[in-house]
Amino acid sequence: MKIELVQEAKSDIEIVFLTKNTLTKNKHAKILKKAGFSAEQESSCFLYEKGLLVCGIEDTHNDNIRTATASAIKTLKKSNFKSAALHVTKGNIKAVVEGLILGGYEYNRYKSETKKPTLKTLNLVCSNIKSLSKDFEEAVIVAEATCFARDIVNTTPEDINPQTLAKLAKDLAKENNLTCNILKEKELKQEKCNAMLAVGRASRYEPHLIHLAYQPKKAKKTITLVGKGLTYDAGGLSLKPATSMVTMKMDKAGACAVLGIIKAVSELKLDVAVHAFVGAVENMIGGDAYKPDDVLTSRSGKTIEVRNTDAEGRLVLVDVLDYAQEKVQADYIFDFATLTGACMVALGQYTTGVMGNNSRLKHAIAKAAGNAGELTASLPFNKHLKKQLKSEIADICNISNKPFGGAITAGLFLDAFIKERNKDKWLHFDIAGSAYTETPWDINGYGGTGAGVRMMCEYLKSIQ
Ligand code: BES
Ligand code: ZN
Ligand code: ZN
Repeated sequence: MKIELVQEAKSDIEIVFLTKNTLTKNKHAKILKKAGFSAEQESSCFLYEKGLLVCGIEDTHNDNIRTATASAIKTLKKSNFKSAALHVTKGNIKAVVEGLILGGYEYNRYKSETKKPTLKTLNLVCSNIKSLSKDFEEAVIVAEATCFARDIVNTTPEDINPQTLAKLAKDLAKENNLTCNILKEKELKQEKCNAMLAVGRASRYEPHLIHLAYQPKKAKKTITLVGKGLTYDAGGLSLKPATSMVTMKMDKAGACAVLGIIKAVSELKLDVAVHAFVGAVENMIGGDAYKPDDVLTSRSGKTIEVRNTDAEGRLVLVDVLDYAQEKVQADYIFDFATLTGACMVALGQYTTGVMGNNSRLKHAIAKAAGNAGELTASLPFNKHLKKQLKSEIADICNISNKPFGGAITAGLFLDAFIKERNKDKWLHFDIAGSAYTETPWDINGYGGTGAGVRMMCEYLKSIQ
């Protein structure tokens, strides 16, 4: 489907939004009422003779515009119209584009037959193309980068493994003019990334540390992004129960978000340097698997007692974070990870957990996330929870000794590997709930959501 910004267009059908209030004043109010339409959000009604698809909307807030547009496009895709029109303004163009692209997204790679959509063109009608075209183009780039992240998340663990993820990153680098450096097992051994190597030891695929960089000439800030790229998390010897293992292809969603962000930033040509680091590893079982009771010496030199091999993301992340901190002196360091089931317990499936030591930075991110239409909540650190990671035999334990506050103790584990000079520069995003869904909600269909991409693009746009 082609989305075009136009001054006027002849289309088969026009989408209009009505609130309960505007419905009463609408000239078709009577017939709409007869058809049972009461302007509920996500409800719609075709008025074929008038050439209209009338969609209900709670109010004209952008969050509702985005959702209503998503449900309109889903309805239209089931129809036989070839072209549709929708009036846009400077205020709502971004929400409309996101609703269309993200709400209309489908992942069909493994279906042998798919129905070709008849809808070919979506005309976004405005009075002044010039004043809207930049916002339009930016929204398309961000929404498509979100779909790019979704696509990788949705790909099976056979098709996306540490090796193919590295190849995909390399291709992205080539396409978008990014620098690319990939460390495989041999280099990771030289780098003493022993925690990351231990997690990947029982896999057919060697771990890969991927580093992509976008470095514009007049960069105002330098940002480091780190992504958890567990292409599959079986749990290791602390094996996951069968039902929890299903969906664990999504344990690479942090990596996908980071790749989506650097793709968008480079296409938006933002004046911000971005370094994306990904730890691509597979957590499996086998005679060579790392074990509960192992003590690992991480890249930083800190020793880690392993008490649960399913708490593997943090082991990968601390080696990547340590490497990233040495290689790049960044203004901010953001990591994205589907780190804990506990984060979903704490916040529900829709909300990203934000952790770190800098409240102002957390506030700034929350504002950007809100503007981008993503849900976030801050999970606060405290010294009591920190004590729960104490080990009797090593510097730190990879799990907490108490069953509560698991999202925060995972964040505190990462914090122990953040250098003193970077404490205020770092934030951790736990996207365990928000990155994947088996029940469609808002603009998200079944599968990966691309959580983190829109939020971070919004933030990076605001600091350049
Ligand atoms: N990848 C999981 C976290 C996860 C769970 C993400 C559910 C998305 C949905 C992570 O590696 C994990 O297994 N964490 C354990 C930690 C525990 C062993 C301390 C968890 O959350 O149970
Ligand atoms: Zn795990
Ligand atoms: Zn995991």
